[in-house]
Amino acid sequence: MKQYTLANAPMVNQIRLCPGETQDELVAYCKERNILLEAYSPLGTGQIFKVPEMQVLAEKYQKSIAQICIRWSLQNGFLPLPKSVTAERIRENMDVFGFELSDEDVRLIAGLTGCVGLSKDPDTINW
Ligand SMILES: NC(=O)c1ccc[n+]([C@@H]2O[C@H](COP(=O)([O-])OP(=O)(O)OC[C@H]3O[C@@H](n4cnc5c(N)ncnc54)[C@H](OP(=O)(O)O)[C@@H]3O)[C@@H](O)[C@H]2O)c1
Repeated sequence: MKQYTLANAPMVNQIRLCPGETQDELVAYCKERNILLEAYSPLGTGQIFKVPEMQVLAEKYQKSIAQICIRWSLQNGFLPLPKSVTAERIRENMDVFGFELSDEDVRLIAGLTGCVGLSKDPDTINW
C-alpha cells in the first residue's frame, strides 16, 4: 500500500461504510493518518431497513432506523452521506444530534457483519 506522509496524505476518503459493511482495515488505516472517512451509502442503499436488530434499536431509542444508522456513523467519526428524494426523510436524517447511542450499542451495530450486500473486491472482480 502507498506510504503517505503529512505532506501528501489525502484529507478525505469516500468509501462505502454502513452497519454490516464496516471495512475495518481501511477505516483503521485512515484513522491512524487522520484521513476523514466520508461514508457513502450509509443506509446500505436502503438494505439496512430490513435488518431486525436495527428495528429493535429503533424501538429502544424511539428513533427511526435511518437515524440510528446515521448516528452510529457520526459516533464512529465518519461523515455520512445519506441520500433521499423525500423532503420529510431528509429532515429526519438531519435530526440526529439530540440523542446518543451507548458504547455497547455502537459495538452491537458494528458487529452486524454481512447484513447488507458487500462491495465487490476490486482485486478479484472481472472488470
Ligand atoms: N463514491 C461513490 O462511489 C458512491 C457510490 C454510491 C453512492 N455514493 C453517494 O452516497 C449517497 C448515498 O448512497 P446511496 O443512495 O447508495 O444509499 P443510502 O443513502 O445508503 O440509501 C438511500 C436509500 O435509503 C432511502 N432512505 C433515505 N433516508 C430514509 C429514511 N429516513 N427512511 C426510509 N428510507 C430512507 C432512500 O429512499 P428515498 O430516496 O426514496 O427517500 C434510498 O432508497 C449517494 O447520493 C451518492 O452521492 C457515492
